[in-house]
Amino acid sequence: MSDYVFGGADLVGEQREAMQRCLDPITFARLEALGVGPGWRCLDVGGGGGSVADWLGRQVGNTGSVVVTDTVPDGLHAGGNVEVRRHDIVTDDLPEAEFDLVHARLVLLHLPERRRALARMVRALKPGGWLLLGEFDCTTLQVLATNDPDTGAAFARFHRALCAVLEQAGADIEWGVHAYQAVRDAGLVEVGSVARADPWPGGGDGARWLEINSRQLEDQLLRTGPVTAGDLDEVRSSLRDPDFVVNSYLTFSVWGRRPDDGGGQVTR
Ligand SMILES: C[S@@+](CC[C@H](N)C(=O)[O-])C[C@H]1O[C@@H](n2cnc3c(N)ncnc32)[C@H](O)[C@@H]1O
Repeated sequence: MSDYVFGGADLVGEQREAMQRCLDPITFARLEALGVGPGWRCLDVGGGGGSVADWLGRQVGNTGSVVVTDTVPDGLHAGGNVEVRRHDIVTDDLPEAEFDLVHARLVLLHLPERRRALARMVRALKPGGWLLLGEFDCTTLQVLATNDPDTGAAFARFHRALCAVLEQAGADIEWGVHAYQAVRDAGLVEVGSVARADPWPGGGDGARWLEINSRQLEDQLLRTGPVTAGDLDEVRSSLRDPDFVVNSYLTFSVWGRRPDDGGGQVTR
């Protein structure tokens, strides 16, 4: 199984919930723009807490269906037209030319074999089917407002350490920027992208997510060097203070369509 940095971490349930509250509105708007509707057959890769699969299940109705996968599928909900599969997108096969939509959010970023996984996802698309990725550029997390400049410096050290831990585990911390090229290289057409960042004030879902990450990865963060236990305490208390505001990661939605001719060009 691949080395997903949060795989064995505590607080995973809370992490998934905060993540979903931050990102679902962005993802659902993008899926609506792609036209997801009744009758579609959808695949959500690395579905985590299952919110996207559940939403897709409602959108596609009785005539459609959803397969949602994860290496750790304990947060996913099977039932109705939603099927859950334990599946590793790096190593396990997928059916080919099967889905009208393949979606993955914050999965490929973490996987060193992301291009191979992407190629597998592309082959799972029907001719004319859509791929949608939701990915971060992790380098953009910056303090927007604080009453205490020292806290801003501690946060910067925390952020540097977090990026280092992700990279040591094989993540591409700028994958949000690189994904467009990868989707085009994978043979998809009508490739598009939109990126946004939102303020994450202390006490909100984004800040809570970061605080959870600081606890999940505490040992690894401290081992990287720049951040101290005192910094982490300070960062955690700032992340509960509404006057402390950070800019979220830059969040990219990247999409593309498998050519209607059957996609002879898609990469293997
Ligand atoms: C950051 S979470 C994102 C969860 C969900 N996509 C979301 O955005 O709410 C990454 C998810 O990918 C899963 N994952 C990690 N490596 C995977 C792999 N090789 N194949 C499938 N899923 C994987 C993890 O278990 C986790 O649920």
